[in-house]
Amino acid sequence: MKAYAKINLLLRICGRLSNGYHRLITLMHTIDLCDEVEIEYDSGKAFGISVDCGHALDIDEKSNLCYLAADAFFSRMNKKNEIMPFVHIRVKKNIPSQAGLGGGSSDAACVLRLLQEHFGKPFSKRQLHSIASTLGADVPFFLYGGCAVCEGTGEIITRVQSLDGLQLIIVKPSEGVMTPQCFKLADEYGFDEGKIDDEYFSFADILDYSQLEPLDKVLDIKNLLINDLERPARELMPKIGEVIDIIDEQGSLHTAMSGSGSACFGLFTSEEDAKRAFDSLSGDQRLSDCRIYHSVTC
Ligand code: C5P
Repeated sequence: MKAYAKINLLLRICGRLSNGYHRLITLMHTIDLCDEVEIEYDSGKAFGISVDCGHALDIDEKSNLCYLAADAFFSRMNKKNEIMPFVHIRVKKNIPSQAGLGGGSSDAACVLRLLQEHFGKPFSKRQLHSIASTLGADVPFFLYGGCAVCEGTGEIITRVQSLDGLQLIIVKPSEGVMTPQCFKLADEYGFDEGKIDDEYFSFADILDYSQLEPLDKVLDIKNLLINDLERPARELMPKIGEVIDIIDEQGSLHTAMSGSGSACFGLFTSEEDAKRAFDSLSGDQRLSDCRIYHSVTC
């Protein structure tokens, strides 16, 4: 199953919760850059979970979000016992990590969907959503994909008409940004709680009722396309500001960082424009430590 990445077209911090998490409004869209997740079931072997990501990740297997997703699924089923098969999860990673593109969260959502299918839908949509939200702020979104306004810590999801076919160039510097540090610095800058809630009050409706084509729809709300994590991320990692300026030089209609970075994206008018920018950026020595992708919202 394909586990698609996402970009945050906007991300506003609306408040801080007592558990240290932040209340957000974000507009997320899946893009065609994806990992491949497969599960093999071995009834000849006692219950257990293994995760194989090749050499893509240097984290302990039991900290892998795919492992945690499967573990949460079976715990909630109350069936971690000998009647269950051994579960081999294989992930072919294409989405870079520490990018703000949601790779790990998307893989975890894929594991939940595959298990839900294989075991004959033991959970309602609402229950699966609740398991997903224990795994990470972005995981519930990936159960649905497409385009959605996500609120709360990310778990309150309003799906809106998708903005398919937006032409994107994504640039991922080799260095990553630590998400908690980024939020911490954003706290120091402060945010205007009520004002942001007011500005985005009817945002999902505007997106749904607009008759414009996807690209024009996005440009119509360009003044709302702000990522509150961009300023702290630029401070923690100045390369982000440089990358955004370099993408801008290619005539991008809108350039921003996704999530908590460090991947940045530029939005282009047409496929030809995006291809031309891809070729030019791929040969740009200033981006020699970066991975560059031509992608599209889907
Ligand atoms: O949930 P996820 O693993 O993506 O979050 C990573 C970190 O980002 C959290 O540990 C937290 O510090 C921060 N975060 C937050 N508020 C959110 C989402 C994430 O403070 N809504």
